[in-house]
Amino acid sequence: MSDPASPSIAPLVVQGVTKRFHQGTATVEALHGVSLRVAPGEFVAVMGASGSGKSTLLHVMAGLTRTDAGTVAVEGQSLSELADGTLTDFRRRRIGLVFQQFNLIPALTALENVMLPLMAEGSRGSQEMRDRATKLLERLGLGQRIGHRPDAMSGGEQQRVAIARALVTDPAIVLADEPTGSLDSINGKAICTLLKELNDRDGRAIVVVTHEPAVAIWARRIVVMKDGAVCADFSAAEFPDAHALAGRYQDIVAGTAAEVAR
Ligand SMILES: Nc1ncnc2c1ncn2[C@@H]1O[C@H](COP(=O)(O)OP(=O)(O)O)[C@@H](O)[C@H]1O
Ligand SMILES: [Mg+2]
Repeated sequence: MSDPASPSIAPLVVQGVTKRFHQGTATVEALHGVSLRVAPGEFVAVMGASGSGKSTLLHVMAGLTRTDAGTVAVEGQSLSELADGTLTDFRRRRIGLVFQQFNLIPALTALENVMLPLMAEGSRGSQEMRDRATKLLERLGLGQRIGHRPDAMSGGEQQRVAIARALVTDPAIVLADEPTGSLDSINGKAICTLLKELNDRDGRAIVVVTHEPAVAIWARRIVVMKDGAVCADFSAAEFPDAHALAGRYQDIVAGTAAEVAR
């Protein structure tokens, strides 16, 4: 079993993961032999062209998709060892998920959306849960929005509510798939700033999937995927700005850069 109290345990370890999709008689191998270890306090951007397997990897890391081969462990807990119901519960408590489309529940207020992961099926939630969710919304600058429903909030605000929902259980890892993909550049940058702050100040382990160098540059470490495999893995600190990173990324995707996997 996992031991959340152990500081040395990696929030996320992906080992040799292969994932195939079957469509009629055709088979697409979306991931082949992907390995990725995320250490405590790491902020990783997974980059890659459309179709390179980024979202599939994120789904596999979240246990939303079962693997055909290989293992995924969150805080030392192998996801494949968990039955569906247990896996759903584990995900709710230990994995924070953020998607491009926010995925908030339209009929619920910001506060109710953020409280959801704290509540067992069918429960109404305690005052302690309300307080916890309220504090988090206030910290993320949404103190004035706690009673608003998603349709009364801007896209940037909705994504901050989604991030609060992802954080409320104090998960082992936050996984975000193109979190700025539905936002304009100003709101997108605000979300990047927030993720960086959560990593810097709280040591929160984060994986962001993105095809945008302007988003990836906020991470500490950059992993590039190509055709379902990791083809590069380097520090973001090497790059003075997103433009410099974009140049390197283009070279990697075009296959002209010599990369050493670490
Ligand atoms: N549910 C699915 N059924 C069939 N093929 C899929 C499915 N999900 C992804 N794929 C295929 O797997 C490959 C990787 O897709 P994806 O992980 O979505 O890439 P990315 O997020 O990098 O754009 C693509 O060829 C895509 O068409
Ligand atoms: Mg995708």
